[in-house]
Amino acid sequence: MTMQNGGRKSAVRFERSRLEGVAPLTARLEPWMKDARFGQILEKGRDLHGSPFNLVNTEPFVRNLERLKTVGCTHDLDIATFFARKANKCLSFVHACRENGYGVDVASEIELDQALRCGVASGKIACTAAVKSRSLLSKCLERDVCVVLDNSDEIDLAVSLARDSQKTMKVALRLSGFEHAGLRLESRFGFPVGDIGSVLSDHVLAHLELAGLHFHLDGYCYQQRVSALWQCLDVSDWILQKKGVRLGFIDCGGGVPISYLASAEQWQGFWSRHDAALLGTGDPVTFDNDGYGRVSVDGRLFGNVKRYPFYQELVQEEWLAKIVNSSRRGETLGGSLAGRRLQLRLEPGRSALDGCGVTVAEVAYRKRHSNGQILVGLAMNHTQCRTSSVDFFADPLLYRCARPMPDQREVPTDSGFLVGSYCTESEFLSLREFRFPEGIAVGDLVVFPNTAGYFMHFKESRSHQFPLAKNLVVTPREVRLDQIDW
Ligand SMILES: Cc1ncc(COP(=O)(O)O)c(C=O)c1O
Repeated sequence: MTMQNGGRKSAVRFERSRLEGVAPLTARLEPWMKDARFGQILEKGRDLHGSPFNLVNTEPFVRNLERLKTVGCTHDLDIATFFARKANKCLSFVHACRENGYGVDVASEIELDQALRCGVASGKIACTAAVKSRSLLSKCLERDVCVVLDNSDEIDLAVSLARDSQKTMKVALRLSGFEHAGLRLESRFGFPVGDIGSVLSDHVLAHLELAGLHFHLDGYCYQQRVSALWQCLDVSDWILQKKGVRLGFIDCGGGVPISYLASAEQWQGFWSRHDAALLGTGDPVTFDNDGYGRVSVDGRLFGNVKRYPFYQELVQEEWLAKIVNSSRRGETLGGSLAGRRLQLRLEPGRSALDGCGVTVAEVAYRKRHSNGQILVGLAMNHTQCRTSSVDFFADPLLYRCARPMPDQREVPTDSGFLVGSYCTESEFLSLREFRFPEGIAVGDLVVFPNTAGYFMHFKESRSHQFPLAKNLVVTPREVRLDQIDW
C-alpha cells in the first residue's frame, strides 16, 4: 500500500476515544502516534490489510541509536551500535541502519542474508546466532562477517572451515560467569571468563582473527554490566600481554532498559492494587483475580511475576552514561576503553525500537462471559502482541468508528476484557480489566502502543492458519508495506 500524504482525503472515520485500565497504566506516546493523520492511517491499514496489522516508524529508531552513540563523546570513546534484528523483522530498520551508519546483529542465516541484501557492509554485521550451522559460519567466513563464538564445538568448526579455505575467520569470544557483588552471573551462553587461557590456543589463533570480546547479560542492571566490562578489560590486557593480540572491541550486548509508561505512580499503584486484590482487601484488577503466578497464603503473597518492568527510571543513554562514567582505581571505564583504543559495542534491540511501532486490531464482537463479565473480542491472537512478559502492562488506545456498523446491539460495555482469536479459555490479549467510558463497538480499532520491540514478531504464530499481521511503514511522505511483506 502506498498512501500519499495529502492524497485522497476521506472523512476521518476513526476518532480517539477513552480506554484505560481499571488500574490505569498510561502509555508514553511518540508524536507520530498522536499526529492528526493517525486515524486516517489506521483506516487505510484496516481497509487494505484487515486485522491485525502493525505500523512501524524508523524516525525514533535513528534518534534512539544516535543518543546512545553520543554518550561516548565525553571520553573520546568510540561507541558502535549493532541493532539486534531479532527484536523486529521489518527490513525498514535494517535499511535505516545502513543509511545512518549503524550495524546489525544477526541471529540466523536468513537474517544475515537479508542484511547483506539490504546492502549492510560486512564490517557492520555481527553474527550472534545461538546455534550456528556450517553453512552460516561458511558464509560469515566468505563475507568477512565477525562471528561471536559461544562454545568449543563452534571454535573447532570455525577453525576447520578457516583452515580448509586458507582464510582467517574474524571472531569475538562470548564470555560469561562474571563476578558481581560476590556472586557469579551464571549463563548458558559463552565461555566462563576464567577459562580464556585454555580456549585461546596457538592453533586457534593461527586460524581465527580474535577481534573482540562479547557478552550479553540477562536483565537491565547497569552495575552488572560495569563489573563484566572491567573483567573483559582485564582479559583484553591479558590477551595482549600473553598472546600478543590487540583486540578492537568489547561488545556488551543488549538489555538497555526502556520505559513504556509515563508515570511511576501508576506503575506502583497498579501493583499495590493487585496486591490488595490478591490479599482480599481490594477489588480485582485482573480477570478472575489472576495473580500472574503469585498466590496469597495466610495473608502473605508468594511467588514472582515474570514481567518486563514497564516503568523504569534509568533508561537509554542515561543508563549507558552510568556505565561509561563508572570508575575503578581512579579511572573511568569509558576512559580506560578509549585509552586502549577499544571500541565499546552494544546490541540494542528493544531500546532501539522504543517508540517505533504499534499493533492495531479491530473489534469483532462484545459478549458476556458465563460469569457475567464483558469480553471484547479482537480479530487478532495473543502471539501477535506478546513477549515472555506475563502481560502487556500499557493501556491500549481506542479509536472509535465514526460510522458504526448498522444495527449493532446495545451491550453495556463500561468495562471488560480484551480477548483474541485462539480457541483456548486462556486466550486473553491482556488479563487486565479495562474501562471504556464512551463505549466500544464492533468495527472500532484497538491500538497497542509501542510494540515494535519484540511484541509484534517474537512469538507470532500461524496456528489455526491465521495469516501473519502485515507490517506498514509510516514515513513523513507515505505509508507503505515493509519490504519483509513484499
Ligand atoms: C546476544 C544478544 N544481543 C542483543 C540482544 C538484544 O537485547 P535487548 O533487546 O534487550 O536489547 C539479545 C537479546 O536476547 C541477545 O541475546
